[in-house]
Amino acid sequence: MKGGGGTPVSNDLRLVYFATSNKHKFDEAKDILADYGIDLKMVREKTEEIQDDDLRTIAVHALSKALEKDERPTMIEDAGLFVKMLNGFPGPYSSYVHRVLGVDGILRLMNHEENRDAEFRSVVAFGNSPSIIETFQGVVKGTISLQPKGRSGFGFDPIFIPKGSKKTFAEMSLEEKNHFSHRADALRKFAKWYTSL
Ligand code: IMP
Repeated sequence: MKGGGGTPVSNDLRLVYFATSNKHKFDEAKDILADYGIDLKMVREKTEEIQDDDLRTIAVHALSKALEKDERPTMIEDAGLFVKMLNGFPGPYSSYVHRVLGVDGILRLMNHEENRDAEFRSVVAFGNSPSIIETFQGVVKGTISLQPKGRSGFGFDPIFIPKGSKKTFAEMSLEEKNHFSHRADALRKFAKWYTSL
């Protein structure tokens, strides 16, 4: 369908609100979901993030709080870096650890460590009302680099090398990162489900 000035109108795109203050996450998600005809709108409100050992619990809690305010198709994503030799640390505490220790702090904790296996995990939670929430999980396995490399992305991107690549996430374009990432994995699962409804 065309608008007045020949501009395409987005009636055929399904609008989904993404509650996040992280513009990098939003850009990654928008790029993926566009492939499925889903139009994403960023809602920059502060989400309520509880501390819990489980990403899913954190995402579901934050989403139900957002939906209590506005009952509309809304998505929240929670992610974390799980380092094998640190028994999964920082995991659900990644945001706090990134703020306090940063990328260099993780590298110091892994000094001289040969086993550098790690994975990023993502949980996308979606719902229209607090009583009906669906979740989708994504994962990417990889290794922690010996030193930070690259300037793109955010968080631990400069020290994470996904399996199948020689580059860190921070050395990749958004499209390359979306080829590998935990977030892309969870978002594609969500999009397949959503567009099949
Ligand atoms: P959040 O709670 O989902 O915002 O993510 C927690 C923290 O994990 C972020 O502050 C980042 O430090 C880290 N993180 C999550 N996803 C990514 C990613 O795609 N790249 C790099 N770091 C990430």
